[in-house]
Amino acid sequence: MTVHFIGAGPGAADLITLRGRDLIAACPVCLYAGSLVPDALLAHCPPGARIVNTASLSLDDIIAEIAAAHAQGQDVARLHSGDLSIWSAMGEQLRRLRAMDIPFDVTPGVPAFAAAAAALEAELTLPGVAQSLVLTRTSGRASAMPEGESLENFAATGATLAIHLSVHLLDEVTARLIPQYGADCPVAVVFRASWPEQRVIRATLATLDPAIGVGERTALILVGHALAATGFDESRLYAGDYDRRYRPVGTDPRFPE
Ligand SMILES: C[S@@+](CC[C@H](N)C(=O)[O-])C[C@H]1O[C@@H](n2cnc3c(N)ncnc32)[C@H](O)[C@@H]1O
Repeated sequence: MTVHFIGAGPGAADLITLRGRDLIAACPVCLYAGSLVPDALLAHCPPGARIVNTASLSLDDIIAEIAAAHAQGQDVARLHSGDLSIWSAMGEQLRRLRAMDIPFDVTPGVPAFAAAAAALEAELTLPGVAQSLVLTRTSGRASAMPEGESLENFAATGATLAIHLSVHLLDEVTARLIPQYGADCPVAVVFRASWPEQRVIRATLATLDPAIGVGERTALILVGHALAATGFDESRLYAGDYDRRYRPVGTDPRFPE
């Protein structure tokens, strides 16, 4: 018996990995984390599967579901939105399962920031503009930000920011970022990236209307000069005169064939 933690992707039913889909189809028990996991994914469950929405369950309740499946030798598909490496609450579940000697494995998923970047048709790391992407959030009721991980500190690097769980705080976010990035820095808010109801709002830090963040919470805020840069350098990797392992150039290549 194994608990398969599966990244369910950002919302579009076909943005799950083939491995994730096949594991869902093979498990007689499916626990899924609320409304961000689309119903269409649950259609991959085998007939008669026990399908449980864990949105209203406590950690103890979730572990009890898994322990019951374990006692019956039934594999479990455990679905979380996006990828499991960020804000999935997988860590605390794995800690319990390790302590209980219940086997598990982890299948990655497409994270929301990648779906949002795709909606924007944007590369977030442009040569000479930004070479880092910070996946972050603001403090919430359930999780305070560790000291040092402030928007101001990340902004000081000039990196592109992907700010999660914060669309209801657009006023605060823009006010905190303008001093570092400048009022004219591009910002994009992507609501429900990859869902049929996906919506994209582009603005600058100064012109973004905070009222757009009222109501729908499933949104990412992307900030940084890479979002609208056109005068960026081309990557050296593909330059015609760049000598590299797979395309030796010149009379004395660094990596001779
Ligand atoms: C609890 S976190 C889950 C993140 C997820 N594990 C991932 O890999 O993207 C939920 C937050 O991710 C963002 N999010 C998740 N799905 C999204 C989507 N389809 N479009 C835009 N933002 C999304 C929102 O900021 C939302 O508040």
